[in-house]
Amino acid sequence: PELHEMAEPLTGWYRKYHRDLPWRHHPDPYRIWISEIMLQQTRVEAVKGYYDRFLQALPTVKDLAEAPEDKLLKLWEGLGYYNRVRNMQKAAIQIMEEYGGEFPADYEKILELKGIGSYTAGAISSFAFGIPKPAVDGNVLRVVTRVLADDADIMKQSTKKRLEKALEEVIPADAASDFNQGLIELGAIVCVPNGEPKCEECPLKNICRAEKEGLTDKLPVKKKA
Ligand code: ADE
Repeated sequence: PELHEMAEPLTGWYRKYHRDLPWRHHPDPYRIWISEIMLQQTRVEAVKGYYDRFLQALPTVKDLAEAPEDKLLKLWEGLGYYNRVRNMQKAAIQIMEEYGGEFPADYEKILELKGIGSYTAGAISSFAFGIPKPAVDGNVLRVVTRVLADDADIMKQSTKKRLEKALEEVIPADAASDFNQGLIELGAIVCVPNGEPKCEECPLKNICRAEKEGLTDKLPVKKKA
């Protein structure tokens, strides 16, 4: 299949079937950033409560930049990986000092912020600003390797880089957010791991090579830990 064939069915499916999640209510870069950092190591259901409480306590970049450490750690208590929230405060201070407290609407500038890698930079750029950059995490790697029946090791940086580049070429300029969120959502609720994907519900079933060739339970290939 050609990857660009994904765009129409994927964005259409996302608009119709996406879950109503708190961070999808406001396409605001600060809110998206908080949610994506929380979601990196924590399940959606667990994040919901933390997300609402964090934004009530610290509604702006400035509030986060100025928060005392004990308040910050208390808001994060139970989520673990406390360096995530320490890095977020460093990034908030960067945004205050370099951009006057306004999140930069620029992928490369977002990528320079402390604790933000290509996935998070792509998520913020596309969801908040409509910038057509990919947001490739484990969910998205699973979807894309299955559609392409690509058996490269997804633990390799080179595989991720190659698939990011392939996706970047097919993200619709006018629907970057729905395209990227569609891939994440599909990987979360339809194209799930462990040989139990719900292929009969999948908007990509007609173009998916893994489905056609009976390879869904062999992909993605994950070698080194
Ligand atoms: N996992 C990572 N990012 C997510 C998002 N924006 N929505 C749902 N699940 C996610």
